[in-house]
Parts: sequence; structure tokens; C-alpha cells
Amino acid sequence: MSKIILVAGATGNLGNKIVDELLKLQVNVKVLVRDETDEKKIQYLASKNVEICKIKEYTIEEIASVCKGVECVVSVLAGFEDTIVDAQKILVEGAIKANVPRFIPSDFCTDFTNLTYGKNRNLDFRKKFHEYLSQQPIKSTSIFNGAFMELTTGDMPLILFGKNKILCWGDKNIKMDLTSTYNVAAYTAHAALDDSTPRYLKIAGESVSCADLTDMMTQLTKSSFKIFKPGGIGLLNIIISITKFFDFSKKELYPAWQGMQYMRDMMAGRAELSKHDNERYPVVWTRLKEYINSEKKFINSEKV
Ligand SMILES: NC(=O)c1ccc[n+]([C@@H]2O[C@H](COP(=O)([O-])OP(=O)(O)OC[C@H]3O[C@@H](n4cnc5c(N)ncnc54)[C@H](OP(=O)(O)O)[C@@H]3O)[C@@H](O)[C@H]2O)c1
Repeated sequence: MSKIILVAGATGNLGNKIVDELLKLQVNVKVLVRDETDEKKIQYLASKNVEICKIKEYTIEEIASVCKGVECVVSVLAGFEDTIVDAQKILVEGAIKANVPRFIPSDFCTDFTNLTYGKNRNLDFRKKFHEYLSQQPIKSTSIFNGAFMELTTGDMPLILFGKNKILCWGDKNIKMDLTSTYNVAAYTAHAALDDSTPRYLKIAGESVSCADLTDMMTQLTKSSFKIFKPGGIGLLNIIISITKFFDFSKKELYPAWQGMQYMRDMMAGRAELSKHDNERYPVVWTRLKEYINSEKKFINSEKV
């Protein structure tokens, strides 16, 4: 009989892709949705070959009843402390109550294990949850993938398309890890089925420095890209503090200062991954050049 995997956060961007990858591996997939989950998103999931498990109150008991026979709970939740710490705690406790052997927390980020508290708000939530998780009688595996590669043509101001510049705050030779969401999803699906996963798995579709990016974009666009360095990490820290100070609402999950915190940690080399576990599963890794090339509108942004 094939294994049963429960995905929490399956309505989300990454969660949906993880469900697809699990289905490709012919796994029985259960998805956990809430009373307040958007009905259209539930219907979209229901069109796939999955079992929808809707719970009302998000209690340990409800989750335990959904977790019966489950081999691994994959959490792909996104949110603030009430989600990353509080809701994931309930998820873990429900899983433990139902004797689920394994849990994959919603990390899917840069390696924060060596970061100190106070440097990166969203990673602090994860650090706090990890302190709790490490005390629980369930085997856990975090997947560290650096930044999602898609952010390079989205919200992350790293490649300044149209200006032919690469924004660089620190050492231009520090490598940054980028992985496509499809690769993260495929890897996570394999990890969910693997009983022998270690506590941490580190992956990267590609590790690139600002210097590498300059060469890559020059080659791709056949026009010269240059490094744009407004200042060092110290100046970036000051800008983060000021922007954060003037963000009175603090209601956004990814405000500008949070994005800058991620970028600072990558460019300062704090989040640099020492070794990668890419080879552990048969994933076809998307290279950055290939990804950017597939997004032609960006390449043609200026004087090609
Ligand atoms: N490395 C990177 O560059 C990067 C970038 C973006 C995200 N990420 C990470 O990837 C993971 C998934 O992010 P995503 O962008 O795919 O998220 P998303 O699209 O925003 O989806 C979030 C999911 O979390 C669920 N959720 C939110 N609050 C919840 C709560 N209190 N209780 C239970 N479920 C809740 C939502 O369920 P409902 O539909 O029920 O609301 C939804 O399924 C997160 O760990 C995120 O930090 C990494």
C-alpha cells in the first residue's frame, strides 16, 4: 500500500506544487484545509486526486483524527508568529497524538540555524518554532533552499532589469542560493517519502554571486551589466532600521524591510549554505540562466 502524506498549507503557492509532486510519485495525499479557507482554492485542490480534510477549529484532536495512518505531515504554512509558531505547534501535537513518525516544518528558506535572534523577523519565528520542535518526540526534517529563484524576476531587487545593473551590498563574490519553487516542491515530495532523512537538508538550484550574475546577464542579454553598489552591509543595516521604524502597521508578511533583511543575510554570507544535498533525490535542477531565459520579457527589457 502506498504511503499517506498530509499536506497542511496545500492551498498556497508552494503547497499546491508539493501536492502535484506527491501525486506524480503515486502517493495518497490528504490536504488539511480550514473552515476559513477560500472555497475556490479548496475546489481547485478537490479537482486533483487528493482527500480534502476540512477542520473547523484547528485543534489537536481534529488534526489527530485527520492524521490517522499518515507517514509524514508536510507543513507549508506561511504567516506570522501565530501561524509559524502557534498553528505549527498544534499541527505537530496533532501528528504526535496520531503517532505520525515524521514532520517537515514550513521552513523552505535560507539556513537560519546560525543566525542570531533579532536579525530577521520571519526567520525568528522559525527559530522559535525549532526550539520547540527539537523537544518533541517526532522526527523532523527542515529543507533549506535559499531564496525562491522566481523572486529574481519578482520582488527581489537583485537583477535590475532595464538598468543593466546587479544590486550588490556586500562582497560581490559571496554566493547566494536560489532554487525554483518547482524544484523545492519535487525535492520535498521525495523527502516526505524518505524515512531516513536527516534533521536538515540543504539544496540550491544554483549558487551565484553578484559577480556571477553580472557575467551571466551580460552573456544572456549581449549588453553589458555592471555591479551597482550603493554601500556596504553597514549602510543596508541602517536603511533596514529606518524603514522598519517608519513601518507603523507591521501587517505585511514581506514589507520592504523584511525583503532587505533576507537580502542582507544572503549578501553578508550569513545564510550561505555549506554543502548541498541536491543529489539525494532525482530532481532536474533549474539553473538561473535557464529560468531567466524562459522569462524573455525581462531579458528584452533594454538595449539587447
Ligand atoms: N525562500 C523563499 O524565497 C520563500 C519565498 C516565499 C515563501 N517561502 C516559504 O515557503 C513556504 C510557503 O509559502 P507560500 O508562499 O507558498 O505561502 P502562501 O501561498 O501564502 O500559502 C500559505 C498557506 O498557509 C496557510 N495558512 C496561513 N495561515 C494559516 C494558519 N494560521 N493556520 C493554518 N494554515 C494557515 C494558508 O491556508 P488557507 O488557504 O487556509 O489560508 C495557505 O495554504 C513558507 O514557509 C514561506 O515562508 C520561501
